[in-house]
Amino acid sequence: MDLFEYQARDLFESYGVPVLAGQIADTPEEAEAAARAIGGTVVVKAQVKTGGRGKAGGVKVAHTPEEAREKAEAILGLDIKGHVVKRVMVAQGAQIDREFYFSVLLDRSNRTFLSLCSVEGGMEIEQLAVERPEALAKVPVSAVSGIDKAKALEIAKAANFPQELLDEVADVFVKLYEVFKKEDATLVEVNPLVLTKEGKIVALDGKVSLDDNAEFRHEREAMERDQLDPLEAKAKEMDLNYVKLDGEVGIIGNGAGLVMSTLDVVAYAGERHGKVKPANFLDIGGGASAEVMAAGLDVILNDPQVRSVFVNVFGGITACDAVANGIVGALNTLGSRATKPLVVRLDGNNVEEGRRILSEFNHPLVSLAETMDGGADKAAELANK
Ligand SMILES: Nc1ncnc2c1ncn2[C@@H]1O[C@H](COP(=O)(O)OP(=O)(O)OP(=O)(O)O)[C@@H](O)[C@H]1O
Ligand SMILES: [Mg+2]
Repeated sequence: MDLFEYQARDLFESYGVPVLAGQIADTPEEAEAAARAIGGTVVVKAQVKTGGRGKAGGVKVAHTPEEAREKAEAILGLDIKGHVVKRVMVAQGAQIDREFYFSVLLDRSNRTFLSLCSVEGGMEIEQLAVERPEALAKVPVSAVSGIDKAKALEIAKAANFPQELLDEVADVFVKLYEVFKKEDATLVEVNPLVLTKEGKIVALDGKVSLDDNAEFRHEREAMERDQLDPLEAKAKEMDLNYVKLDGEVGIIGNGAGLVMSTLDVVAYAGERHGKVKPANFLDIGGGASAEVMAAGLDVILNDPQVRSVFVNVFGGITACDAVANGIVGALNTLGSRATKPLVVRLDGNNVEEGRRILSEFNHPLVSLAETMDGGADKAAELANK
């Protein structure tokens, strides 16, 4: 899980890493209130999980609360490399003297942790690594001994920090490593870490990726809730494997591979029908019971973008008749909440019986497809009506 900058800021703060005041805002009015609460000059920053926000117009200085509202108005809704800004962080403004770079990450190929550090921060690190590799220190970090004060000093010296800053930045590196270790992160990056005109070291921007395999060791409900789209949150509550996408054709299938190829086939069919696209990924897994089918349909039908649904199931251990009964049960459960046409393609174990059940059910919204391509085409056509 990748954190938003404000979540990284809050995490840093709880570990004693020096950060500036920051408050999130979902509307221009909230941004104005946040700026007023923080006081003085602030920086309004787009909260999206992609780099280069500054260059894309997603980081703007505001000198008054009114100006913060205007800047937030300009940033909210902005599309930064395909990420639409839904939230900004209003951060206290820093008087920057110098910008540095620090990160610690999992170096998979060398089976170790690695710290990258430079006194030339601010710019994109990938660019620095290519253009001036000598300016980027790369120091392997043992998972056993980690970054203690001695290691932190080694990193700071390798990056050519001036003598008088060594002690202070080393303390910050030790704390950032604590975040990395205790939170089970695979990346903790600060770009820029700054020296302010008042002579303080502050983390101005944070990027943190957490290892999902270690999720069970942490309580992150609130953090996760903030991550999720409302439909994804609902799906998660029901234990469904659901990812919201940007199209009009809802997809339900069993098995990740089948669902992935269903997305492709629907996208392809959509080319012929007004460029409609898949609205989601949803794998209901092996035991496609009536309850799971109902939960899945409920989530998909609640997506206002969805115009039709394609159910593509290959009966295996759970045979097609059980799936068909699942669909019947789901539509009965949903009653008048089921409002969009469903195209169902069944194949595999006990397919005849499955089709018979659905034909007999004879629901006005349900049509049967013989093949996957045929079903995708029909669903795309219905979505385009
Ligand atoms: N609180 C702040 N006060 C003063 N200047 C800031 C503040 N936050 C950011 N800046 C300035 O804006 C620049 C860009 O900010 P930041 O690093 O947060 O975004 P970015 O680098 O564009 O985005 P990303 O890190 O996602 O690529 C910083 O290098 C810094 O010069
Ligand atoms: Mg940055």
